Amino acid sequence: MKATVLYFSSSGKTGDLATRLSEELRRLGCKVLSTSLDEARRSDLGQCDAVFIGSPAWSGEQVAPALDEFVRGHSERLAGARVAMFGSYDWGEGRYFDALGEYLRSQAVTVHGRPLLSRQSEPELTDEAVTEFVAEVLAEAGRPEE
Ligand SMILES: Cc1cc2nc3c(=O)[nH]c(=O)nc-3n(C[C@H](O)[C@H](O)[C@H](O)COP(=O)(O)O)c2cc1C
Repeated sequence: MKATVLYFSSSGKTGDLATRLSEELRRLGCKVLSTSLDEARRSDLGQCDAVFIGSPAWSGEQVAPALDEFVRGHSERLAGARVAMFGSYDWGEGRYFDALGEYLRSQAVTVHGRPLLSRQSEPELTDEAVTEFVAEVLAEAGRPEE
């Protein structure tokens, strides 16, 4: 399977999660492209079984605007992939991916049912939580949303 991990991170929390997800995907035999938004190209989103999109909650519980814009602007590239969200937040409710998920679904993109989130003020996510999330996404990759 092929996977892309695309993320924005200001202080490294979401970046750490991107690394952990990429390592787990590679451990399972996936071919993985991991890229921060700064280095991302439109082509990175194409022809993957799974695309993991990572962002911190940003200014009023949104996905970081530049990442949001990049993903919305290239959503046609996500057809056929399962899109899973991940990231880190702090004082909000952790629902900041809802709007992007809704938008992608309106564009007929398959979006995984739950994001993987860590809260800055709480302990790190366990390895089991990361492993479980990756397994869940890969098990559903290639299948249409129900
Ligand atoms: C400019 C700015 C805006 C933020 N806005 C929110 C927010 O609206 N809701 C929230 O829960 N956390 C908010 N945070 C906290 C970050 O989401 C949190 O610190 C996160 O762990 C940072 O992840 P990162 O290290 O990947 O950048 C904000 C942080 C900054 C610096």
